[in-house]
Amino acid sequence: MIAPSILSADFSRLGDQVREVEAAGADRVHVDVMDGHFVPNLSMGSVVVKGLRPTTRLPLEVHLMVEDPGRFLDGFVAAGADTLIVHLEVHPDPRPILDHIRRGLGKKVGLAFNPDLPVARVEPFLRDIDLALCMTVFPGFGGQAYIPESTARVRELRDLVDRHNPACEIEVDGGIDAATIPLAAGAGATVFVAGSAVFGAKAGPAAAVKELGRLAAAAKAG
Ligand code: DX5
Ligand code: ZN
Repeated sequence: MIAPSILSADFSRLGDQVREVEAAGADRVHVDVMDGHFVPNLSMGSVVVKGLRPTTRLPLEVHLMVEDPGRFLDGFVAAGADTLIVHLEVHPDPRPILDHIRRGLGKKVGLAFNPDLPVARVEPFLRDIDLALCMTVFPGFGGQAYIPESTARVRELRDLVDRHNPACEIEVDGGIDAATIPLAAGAGATVFVAGSAVFGAKAGPAAAVKELGRLAAAAKAG
């Protein structure tokens, strides 16, 4: 599944850009929310989700790179978010917030973790989530290079997910492009976030979505 990250989109025509990737076969839209504390950058809030909601039928997944995600959940749900992803780094015991998102708010829940967190740290929570988001760069900025060690981390996560909750999706985020998507897909990732490789593509976002989807499927099959 391809999840274009709108962080790299042209915000002056965001609706058109999302319609374009939807028509090309994108599976969901990835919304990167940054608070300037958890990551050294600011991005967007629930107003963007609200604006996008009527423009697309694709699920909107919100990646909360913020120190205190609990404060913002209601706003994103009211705006139309389908999936809420929180970082393990800000919740040493994430169970209460994972449970709140799933059962309290009735939304899909994801747990994200940075490249320097041992993968084994997510193991206790795999049964409580719909999606595990393995960061393949340190979050904060689009356009960074995929960290090569990520491939082995995805493989490790795949083993744990197969053991504890095979329905859990494995998402990768950061530096995913035509060269790296086969590595992540071959290691067992199932959802691929791509920002600059989609919205910065010379051939345009639609062609990029199709090509990334083709490469991911080929790597999985092979
Ligand atoms: C990283 C964000 C990513 C990022 C992806 O801070 O969580 O979603 O924007 O961008 P690319 O695909 O350009 O690495
Ligand atoms: Zn993201």
